[in-house]
Amino acid sequence: MAATILVPLLAAIMVYSVSANFHQDVEITWGDGRGQITNNGDLLTLSLDKSSGSGFQSKNEYLFGKIDMQIKLVAGNSAGTVTAYYLKSPGSTWDEIDFEFLGNLSGDPYTLHTNVFTQGKGDREQQFKLWFDPTIDFHTYTILWNPQRIIFSVDGTPIREFKNMESQGTLFPKNQPMRMYSSLWNAEDWATRGGLVKTDWSKAPFTASYRGFSEEACVVSNGKSSCPNGSGQGSGSGSWLSQELDSTGQEQMRRVQSNYMIYNYCTDAKRFPQGLPRECLAA
Ligand SMILES: *[C@@H]1O[C@H](CO)[C@@H](O)[C@H](O)[C@H]1NC(C)=O
Ligand SMILES: *[C@@H]1O[C@H](CO)[C@@H](O)[C@H](O)[C@H]1NC(C)=O
Repeated sequence: MAATILVPLLAAIMVYSVSANFHQDVEITWGDGRGQITNNGDLLTLSLDKSSGSGFQSKNEYLFGKIDMQIKLVAGNSAGTVTAYYLKSPGSTWDEIDFEFLGNLSGDPYTLHTNVFTQGKGDREQQFKLWFDPTIDFHTYTILWNPQRIIFSVDGTPIREFKNMESQGTLFPKNQPMRMYSSLWNAEDWATRGGLVKTDWSKAPFTASYRGFSEEACVVSNGKSSCPNGSGQGSGSGSWLSQELDSTGQEQMRRVQSNYMIYNYCTDAKRFPQGLPRECLAA
């Protein structure tokens, strides 16, 4: 009895977790051979040396989605390097949802930097330390973007939520389709301890690895967005379009924020002498 119930359930879950093929789903857009897809499309690597970094982007454009990527960051002395993984729309009033990993000296922790831009305006940084070494293994970094909220998660643990508070006069990204981008580049003038620690080019090339990309998303083509069946309703794996944090998720996020958050624009009163952004006050 139990087995007959289990089989269709498993089948449904697998449809959503089928991991994509990089050959099919992304294109390497810059880096002159420093970005490579191997293992029949299962693995992608980006590298950085003194003359260039590299990057790739999704072929699809999304208007809402749940995007997962497993990343193994540059190991050893990664000071001055930045690995960025984000969604972004084109144009001068773009929307953007960012994960950026700021490298560090061997043994010193990476900083995970997050930001949300609406119509070209960001200034919503929150930064975290991680509770593991992100260079030893792959870890899953997820952007969930639906009409009500954006949730950033690490290995399934929510670390940040940006709610749609348009009713309180804050803009929310919801009209401009975005693509997924990732790149590895050099930012030694600011990335590590504010630019004090420079890149050690004798350790180049620096390499970050990617696998397990999954896009459960409303894909835009020819100006029309189509959402997969079941993405709006229920509580199954396809319900990302209406997903919110349950009490467990809220508790997990609270715990990460109290133990691992190292910067929060919402508590940086000095930076906003005219008053904190409205979304900070309502929280
Ligand atoms: C690098 O390590 C230092 C020392 O632990 C820390 O202060 C800094 O926040 C870390 N991250 C970056 C990106 O500089
Ligand atoms: C979505 O649902 C419609 C109507 O039930 C069905 O005809 C269609 O085949 C489904 N599409 C997918 C991709 O499952």
